[in-house]
Order: sequence, then C-alpha cells, then structure tokens
Amino acid sequence: MRVKVISVAIDGPSGAGKSTIARAAAAELGFTYVDTGAMYRTLGLAAYERGTDMDDGDALSRLLDEIGMKIEYIDGVQHVFMGNRDVSDDIRRPEISMAASKVSAHAQVRKALVAFQQELARRQSVVMDGRDICMHVLPDAAVKIYLTASVDDRARRRVEQLREMGSEVPFDEVKADIEKRDYDDMHREVSPLCQAPDAHLIDTTGYTLEQGMNAVISYIKEKAHVL
Ligand code: DC
Repeated sequence: MRVKVISVAIDGPSGAGKSTIARAAAAELGFTYVDTGAMYRTLGLAAYERGTDMDDGDALSRLLDEIGMKIEYIDGVQHVFMGNRDVSDDIRRPEISMAASKVSAHAQVRKALVAFQQELARRQSVVMDGRDICMHVLPDAAVKIYLTASVDDRARRRVEQLREMGSEVPFDEVKADIEKRDYDDMHREVSPLCQAPDAHLIDTTGYTLEQGMNAVISYIKEKAHVL
C-alpha cells in the first residue's frame, strides 16, 4: 500500500520564527523538515568564498552545479554539505544572509533549487519553509501558512539567536539588515515574497516561541486532519 504523502508549506520574511516553528511542527507530525533557505545560503556561501559575481546568474548556476550541494538528516536535523564539508553553521553568518538574498534573485538558480525541493517533497511528507513555497514549490500543498511578525520583534529574536551562536550584533544593525532583506525579497522580479491568496496568515508579534508553535501546529492539525 502506498502511504499518502502530505506537504505543509510555510512562507514568510526572515526572523519570523519559521525555521524553529517548522522544525517543531515537523517533529510533532513525524514529517521531514526542509529548510529551503539553507540551500540559497549554501550557494551564497560558495559565491562569497570564491568571489563569484553575485549579479551573474549564469555563473551562479554553474557554481551550483560544481559545489555538490547535499542535504542529509543527522538525528532528524537537516545538515547541508558542499561536497564533504558540513556548512550548516557557516551559512548562518550575517554576511551570508545577504549573499543568500542576492543569489536567490536569479531565475536560473531558483529553477534548479525549486526542482530539488519538489523532488524532496515527492518522496516524503514534509514541512517546508521558505519564501515561494505556497505559490511555486508546492502549489498543491495540503496546508499553506504565511508566518510573519513585526520587524522589531523579528530583529529582537535574531539578536538573541546570534548571541546564542556567540556573536554580539547591535539591534539597529540587525534591524536594518532585516529591513533590507525584506525589501529585496519582496521586490525581486522572480518569485517575490508575498502571502499566497490561499495561505493562512499567522502573525506572531508579541508571541512567545511556544505560542507561535502552538498556533502553527494547531492550524496544521485542523486543516490537514492528519493526526
Ligand atoms: O530563510 P532564510 O533567511 O534562511 O533565507 C535566506 C535567503 O534565501 C532569503 O533572503 C531569501 C532566500 N530564499 C528564497 O528566495 N526562497 C526560499 N524558498 C528560501 C529562501
């Protein structure tokens, strides 16, 4: 008997708590968590380290073919590799966030990564988060969510996250960075970030992480009747 594969799609701007919440939701449902931002970040890291022109979509697409990006799950946690190098921590550096946003603006790059993401969702039930999941990657997803929060809340959470990773970055710097990325992600020509008409809005402004998780998980359960 074929087991039914279910997809949950979550989009939203940076720092809305998408990855933490999507990971928790996947664990609760027994689905695989797919962090698509990590894929754009990996290409951003490669371009940053090799000095590839981030305005040159063809060069970036060739670079993507060369770096041997792989996704592996270690104790249920998604790791990204460039060849044999586990880059899961390196891709979280603030300068790589900006590089990821730049490389993600190119149609050639998106085409290749979207195909890769769709293949992952064909094989297993997933909770997948990103910017274009509801409209482009998984338009037939059983559940679609647009997760957001105010810029100030998102910046505060990012400062905290960076602190836990050992870097002290001033609030104003983090906020300016988030505002710039929001603008770029929402105004690029290819698959700009926006709320899909059929996506359910969850605004976590003022929520604790736990409240955000509960809101998302209960909506998924109600909508998908999965569990
Ligand atoms: O979610 P994140 O911050 O890890 O994403 C890094 C960058 O990648 C973000 O600026 C936009 C881009 N991105 C995208 O364009 N499409 C996705 N599905 C995921 C991320």
